[in-house]
Amino acid sequence: MKPLQNDLFLRACLRENVERTPVWMMRQAGRYLSEYRATRAKAGGFLNLCRSPEMCSEVTLQPIDILNADAAILFSDILVVPEAMGMDLSFGTGEGPKFSDPLTCRADVEKLPVLDDPTRELGYVMDAVATIRRDLNGRVPLIGFTGSPWTLATYMVEGGGSKNFSKVKAMMFNEPETMHLLLDKLADSVAAYLNGQIAHGAQAVQIFDTWGGILTSRDYKAFSLDYMQKIVSKLNRENEGRRVPVILYTKGGMGWLEAIADTGCDVVGLDWSIDIDVAKARIGDRVALQGNMDPTMLYAQPDRIRAEVKDILARFGRGNGHVFNLGHGITPDVPPEHAIAFFKAVREESVQYHR
Ligand code: CP3
Repeated sequence: MKPLQNDLFLRACLRENVERTPVWMMRQAGRYLSEYRATRAKAGGFLNLCRSPEMCSEVTLQPIDILNADAAILFSDILVVPEAMGMDLSFGTGEGPKFSDPLTCRADVEKLPVLDDPTRELGYVMDAVATIRRDLNGRVPLIGFTGSPWTLATYMVEGGGSKNFSKVKAMMFNEPETMHLLLDKLADSVAAYLNGQIAHGAQAVQIFDTWGGILTSRDYKAFSLDYMQKIVSKLNRENEGRRVPVILYTKGGMGWLEAIADTGCDVVGLDWSIDIDVAKARIGDRVALQGNMDPTMLYAQPDRIRAEVKDILARFGRGNGHVFNLGHGITPDVPPEHAIAFFKAVREESVQYHR
């Protein structure tokens, strides 16, 4: 395998010197690209696509070719973990995810297995990681990922997406021990899963805590952050002679940046609700920062997008430890030309901050 030709992303994660600010975007392989929609049609649906290592690799590489992204992210979904634990997962067209048998009580949680061998239950993801590494051939690093235990639990208890999270909150408040048992099983499963991804070639990993922000500060610590910390402490942080950076992203968690940085992660992911200079002043000397343009800025014209990129770069200022990204995933109806303009603006405008 060829050595890495572009390691800007890995260097920025570790706050090392870079020639310009690296950029990738959450959900960069997805429905806004006609190339993605074509591959998904060929696969016969989203979950079939996730189960085909060759086609996963194809869609993972699409944004590397189209956007010139500085990192690739494994194409999969956070919900393949509960599926591998025995839950029945489906995605209706134009709908979100659905579990036909959501968890309702202690007995349901007790029955769930802990995944300890990712090559068994999630072997197709391990194969996808290895296939993507082969096909990337050293162009850019590959990021692996998982959902946080809390975020996975919300889908497993609600049976899908939710507006007010009534079921998962009721379980958390009424049966905290059941919730802790579930989160503990998920933390152990997810740690083994990420270590499997790292062993198969993931060069960095991100934990997506999409729903941590719906919790109070106290509950965030007890029901989300503590479990992410447990995962971080179990990860293999060294592979192929390089450090494997860990990125922790809690949407809606900007009030807790210091605590997130204290988990021992290398990078804190920012949503768009905080100015990056404020985040940097609070924690920027301890960890790298990833973010944080408002994803809806991609509906604006390219010159407005460039102005926003310039503002974020100026707020971060000179110095290392910035990975440019959106504050959450790109939405399906964004014109691809706007995404291309966004990446180009970061590449061009960031050079002056690294001279
Ligand atoms: O970022 C990437 O390009 C890698 C692929 C990726 C997907 N899902 C593919 C996907 C990643 C990292 C995820 C993570 C994920 N999945 C999260 C956490 C990140 C976030 O966005 O908050 C969550 C909460 C999920 C669960 C999930 N998967 C939902 C709620 C949905 C439906 C909503 C939607 O956007 O349609 C999915 C489906 C999904 N996952 C799609 C893709 C490309 C769309 C499916 C399709 O092609 O029809």
